[in-house]
Amino acid sequence: MSKIKFFLNESMPLEMHKVRVVQKLNLIPIEARKEALDQGGYNTFLLKNRDVFLDMLTDSGTNAMSDRQMASMMVADDSYAGSETFYRLEKTLQFFFQMKYFLPTHQGRACENIICKTFVKPGDVIPMNYHFTTTKAHIELNGGTVAEIFTDEALKVTSDCPFKGNIDLNKLQQLIKEVGVEHIPFLRIELGTNLIGGQPIALENILAVAKICHDHKIMVVTDASLLADNIHFNKEREEFCKNLSLHEIVLKIAEVTDIMYFSARKLGCVRGGGICVPTVELFDKMKDLIPLYEGFLTYGGMSVREMEAMAVGLEETLDPEMVNQGPQFIAEFGKKLMEQGVPIITPTGGLGCHVDARRFIPHVKSEEYPAGALAAAIYLISGVRGMERGTISETRNPDGSEHPAGVELVRLALPRRVFTMSQISYAVDRIAWLFQNRDLIKGLMFIDEPKVLRFFLGRLTPIDHWADKLMKKFREDFGDSL
Ligand code: F0G
Repeated sequence: MSKIKFFLNESMPLEMHKVRVVQKLNLIPIEARKEALDQGGYNTFLLKNRDVFLDMLTDSGTNAMSDRQMASMMVADDSYAGSETFYRLEKTLQFFFQMKYFLPTHQGRACENIICKTFVKPGDVIPMNYHFTTTKAHIELNGGTVAEIFTDEALKVTSDCPFKGNIDLNKLQQLIKEVGVEHIPFLRIELGTNLIGGQPIALENILAVAKICHDHKIMVVTDASLLADNIHFNKEREEFCKNLSLHEIVLKIAEVTDIMYFSARKLGCVRGGGICVPTVELFDKMKDLIPLYEGFLTYGGMSVREMEAMAVGLEETLDPEMVNQGPQFIAEFGKKLMEQGVPIITPTGGLGCHVDARRFIPHVKSEEYPAGALAAAIYLISGVRGMERGTISETRNPDGSEHPAGVELVRLALPRRVFTMSQISYAVDRIAWLFQNRDLIKGLMFIDEPKVLRFFLGRLTPIDHWADKLMKKFREDFGDSL
């Protein structure tokens, strides 16, 4: 979307900002990284940040804030009830989504708790493009089940499909017939579909899905956490959106949405969340749960400083040069990895670059968690922390057997405006080396497996001591280099 033409390299990403605050990083030796993995149960969630060089675990709450956001924090109005900050944020959200009512929450999954507690009954089915971990857990905790009705392209790891986040309209019609509208309180649309590689959904698809839902009196709930990436791709890849501004795209999505919710750890580049609805009836149905689970209705568990910065962050999300930074860096990261033969999800999406563990280490079976093993191996040889998004992130079947994930990915998230191209080149260099030595990586097995959302706190160990072998080979090839 950048208007700048280059002489040498057509796709070069170019930052339209300068860095004015920096934080020193640590790169510890591979032996210390091995020690950190042993202590953290080969789960990158359990590493300490001081042991991490480039933290690509997530973009959640880690995006760089702008100078305007930082400045706004100084004028935040601290009060338990009725703070000026709340009304400023509410006004910004009313403008942003053109929805009148705002329920503040402390983060995205808190919105899911409120929405699911209010609307999901035992036996209900919630259709969606691809589930997100916390969403699925909240739906199931309330007795519902998730029905994924994505298109056949969604799980193809290499594809040139621009909108792998789309919903299959025939599957939706079929599901409504089979399940009956009385068991479908709402359909959920996830913008920038996280678990399949930050893949967008087309605006035309959203409008068609919403029409079917509304014809059947089914509510549309939109998870707008990854809205910034999605609207960037709508504008870039969708003929229908070529002449629309980013805000016009947002408003077209909002117009057909009954309940909009978001994690402001992603949208708005702060830490917090919220639910927006157009009618007082929907607001009244949910509002009593906010003081119970979150905090009073005018802060919802957030700090007023974050709320002030969120209002500015939302305004900045309508700036094309703000929203294109992430996708452009991710595209370049992906291009450099592919030049080295490293298998990644294509097309690249938002949020991060996703390495395809099934093709990287095809000798590791799903039951031995290829994505988890690859995430651990990448950290070991580089200090780069990615996240497993594969079978470990799934829940076991009721009979205790594994439920192999549709895709086995290591997500290397690029928090917006945080890393430089040379840091990305370092990550590419190390991952390219690992790819050459991929035969040394074996699987993982659980030594401590939590029942719910096991990927967060579960502890594993490498099968056949492969981490020691990989470390030895690293030393042979790199000498005493970090
Ligand atoms: N919905 C989506 C699409 C998300 O990506 C997330 C969080 C949530 C809901 C939950 O929001 O974390 O504020 O409670 N994704 C984070 C990630 C955890 O790393 O991708 P939250």
